[in-house]
Amino acid sequence: MDRINITETFAGISYPGHLHTRESLKLAQDFQFQDTDIVISTFPKSGTVWMQEILTLICSKGDSLVAETVPNWVRAPWLEHTYFRETVQENGGLRIITTHLPYDILAPALKNSKAKVIYMARNPKDVAVSYYHFHKFAKFLPEPGTFGDFLDRFLNGKVHYGSWFQHVKSWLRHQENASFFFITYEDMHWDLRGSIEKLCGFLNCSLSSEELDSVEQHCSFNRMSQNSMVNCTLISPEIMDHSKGKFMRKGIAGDWKQHFTVAQNSLFDHIYQEEMCHCKHRFHTAL
Ligand code: A3P
Repeated sequence: MDRINITETFAGISYPGHLHTRESLKLAQDFQFQDTDIVISTFPKSGTVWMQEILTLICSKGDSLVAETVPNWVRAPWLEHTYFRETVQENGGLRIITTHLPYDILAPALKNSKAKVIYMARNPKDVAVSYYHFHKFAKFLPEPGTFGDFLDRFLNGKVHYGSWFQHVKSWLRHQENASFFFITYEDMHWDLRGSIEKLCGFLNCSLSSEELDSVEQHCSFNRMSQNSMVNCTLISPEIMDHSKGKFMRKGIAGDWKQHFTVAQNSLFDHIYQEEMCHCKHRFHTAL
């Protein structure tokens, strides 16, 4: 399988070069947020597109028209991608902006704005598994090798977008900020309705119970798997080899148990403990 072997490095972190350039990363760093912006920040494979779908539907009060007709990268574009400036609306309306950048890169831009930031994280063991499978069919990422090889690189922060630990810690340091909302994939998986209601509270969006029903239905794994605006089937086979895997893969919590050996799990727990001992949030890494 031919890979698109271009890598861009910025602030010590590598990024897939077909969507990132030095210029696009610099532009992201210097971006002027509007106070009405909603920013989704995640490490890859943490449920980014799920959050894009939920916010799209909250903002449309449960009306699925935009979710079913506009691709996610147009309605919630990635700040650091090359197409961002030509895609993002400039008219001062409500915007959903997505990013995988660590906090430190965006700190100067965010400090001067009242944009609302939603940081979504996931059990890192499930992130590693999901990322490994994504590497198999996303041709803009390097060949993953065996799961063991990939896990070593993940634990050492030698994957695109860098270290999961550094990413999460960089954002969670700002958890107390009033314009910051933290949620996990597992919170949403175990209580989607409650999570949507909390997000509405944070965004000051009041939805009726019928509107909430609609948001919940359209954001289910099954519904999103069939929505070509979010399931990546619109992406050309040169970029994603759809015969090798699916973006909407399993959508569950705890799939790591099907992949990790006992030794890999204890090494992971050891590194997790060392890296995260001062972090206020404890991820449910044993579930
Ligand atoms: P899996 O590979 O474990 O299935 P991202 O958008 O950050 O790339 O994350 C992708 C992961 O989120 C994939 O995980 C995908 O299946 C999962 N996901 C997307 N939509 C979801 C939904 N509605 N419910 C549960 N998981 C979802």
